Amino acid sequence: MANVTFSSPRMARDLTVYAVAGDTQTLLSVAQAHKVPVDFECGNGECGSCVLQITVLSDKTPYGVALTEKEKTVLRYSGKITQSQIEQAETSDIPPPHRLACQFIVRNEDILVTF
Ligand code: FES
Repeated sequence: MANVTFSSPRMARDLTVYAVAGDTQTLLSVAQAHKVPVDFECGNGECGSCVLQITVLSDKTPYGVALTEKEKTVLRYSGKITQSQIEQAETSDIPPPHRLACQFIVRNEDILVTF
């Protein structure tokens, strides 16, 4: 189980939900299942409308960062990630601060999602 906490000025208060470990749900799917108002258009890693900030809260070593090629391209184009951050993610598993909700797979780690 992972605690996923959503925080946004667009919500009356923060909302923490539980995502089942082993599920391969995207963060966008988790948000939609709980009626969290995360923006989205394409749902396919192409438009960048679902960008949000993710902070890993657990003390454990962060999971390997899996950035899709689409996600890297869109985040680079919108200025939300640097080439250096991409390299750190791929070589050292250092998570970049911004991700695309429709591409981010929820894992067994607690995260804070800000948008
Ligand atoms: S909804 Fe378009 S990139 Fe995520």
